[in-house]
Amino acid sequence: MPLCGLIHSGRDRWGGSLNKSLTKVCEMIASELEPLTHVSPEDFKEGMAVLSGAVNIVTTDGPGGRAGLTASAVCSVTAEPPTLLVCVNRGSSAAPAFLQNDAICVNTVGPDHKGLAMLFGGKTPMEDRFATADWTEGPSGAPVLGGSVASFDCKVTSRNVVGSHEVLFCEIIDITRTQGTPGLVYFARQFHELQA
Ligand SMILES: Cc1cc2nc3c(=O)[nH]c(=O)nc-3n(C[C@H](O)[C@H](O)[C@H](O)COP(=O)(O)O)c2cc1C
Repeated sequence: MPLCGLIHSGRDRWGGSLNKSLTKVCEMIASELEPLTHVSPEDFKEGMAVLSGAVNIVTTDGPGGRAGLTASAVCSVTAEPPTLLVCVNRGSSAAPAFLQNDAICVNTVGPDHKGLAMLFGGKTPMEDRFATADWTEGPSGAPVLGGSVASFDCKVTSRNVVGSHEVLFCEIIDITRTQGTPGLVYFARQFHELQA
């Protein structure tokens, strides 16, 4: 009989409180060994496909070089200090730059930037991604996209690795907006336009 079963069966020769402590330790070991979830990566992706999200072209520049990718995994964290988070796939071609640089800009885009979002979301060489569109440098040093719905220029304040992704917590140092620009959301693997 496994140790945990033996303790549960009450056939040990130790006192009650020791028995309880050992049972607790067994439960902790079991919870470490057993998977918490039976949701497969495929199930996860199918579920996330219907979690609609804004379309963002997230850029960076600094010692790790200039880079950018399209990201829907962007989320508001807190207003004080003004913070958002971005999840970056550590296997993407843009990741080495995002892992080294502290300057980051979340450019939330509208329908006019659908093509650009595809460019930054595909297997396009990094220089080609920045070859079109109107780019300026924000206070952080990251590229800011002209005509975006909103651009959140940030400094990365902390990082956390979760599985394949790096979660970047970013403090917003400047916000620029283009008033009246329609929005864009990604839902069921397609872009959908939103009227302002
Ligand atoms: C709508 C959309 C949303 C995406 N969201 C994310 C995201 O939140 N995080 C991420 O790391 N990659 C995201 N990607 C994928 C990246 O943009 C990129 O295509 C992928 O990492 C492969 O890029 P690479 O060719 O530069 O390696 C998204 C792509 C699209 C089209």
